[in-house]
Amino acid sequence: MKISIGCDHIVTDIKNHIVEYLEAKGHEVIDNGTYDHIRTHYPIYGKKTAERVINKEADLGIVICGTGVGITTSVNKIKGIRAALVRDITTAKYSKEELNANIIGIGGRITGIGLMEEIIDTFISTEYKETEENKELIKSIDDMIEDDSYINDEHLFDDLLEKWDRGYYHD
Ligand code: RB5
Repeated sequence: MKISIGCDHIVTDIKNHIVEYLEAKGHEVIDNGTYDHIRTHYPIYGKKTAERVINKEADLGIVICGTGVGITTSVNKIKGIRAALVRDITTAKYSKEELNANIIGIGGRITGIGLMEEIIDTFISTEYKETEENKELIKSIDDMIEDDSYINDEHLFDDLLEKWDRGYYHD
């Protein structure tokens, strides 16, 4: 399977571990960064990861930040993305089976590596169970977002990055 992955600066090592883990299992991984520990902004890497899925370069996506909340919330604003923030196996299974989630979000500072690997394995191997009810539910969720002009716009966060460079944000 082709997996798109992205993270912010506080979980880069965890993301790198997951990339290696997935590759060892024979998956093709598109690593959208971030690649170092320099402070950055999680929506940037969430968006890059999501675009690979939207553009069908990847089958599924994985996004990781400290809690998982920020990056998962961000990708859920992108048209066509259904992302689930997952901390257990049951939710990982549900998110694919019922919602046909195409991205999974994980809190790299919350969930241990072993559980994270199992969550990802479950998410990848679970099949969507299409029913009329699920189809309608998914359509009603997807229909709530209409504007997709920001997809593939590499400059969407330029103003934020400029503020970052000016030292506007502090940890
Ligand atoms: C760091 O920016 C941290 O706030 C972020 O990784 C995450 O925990 C947000 O949900």
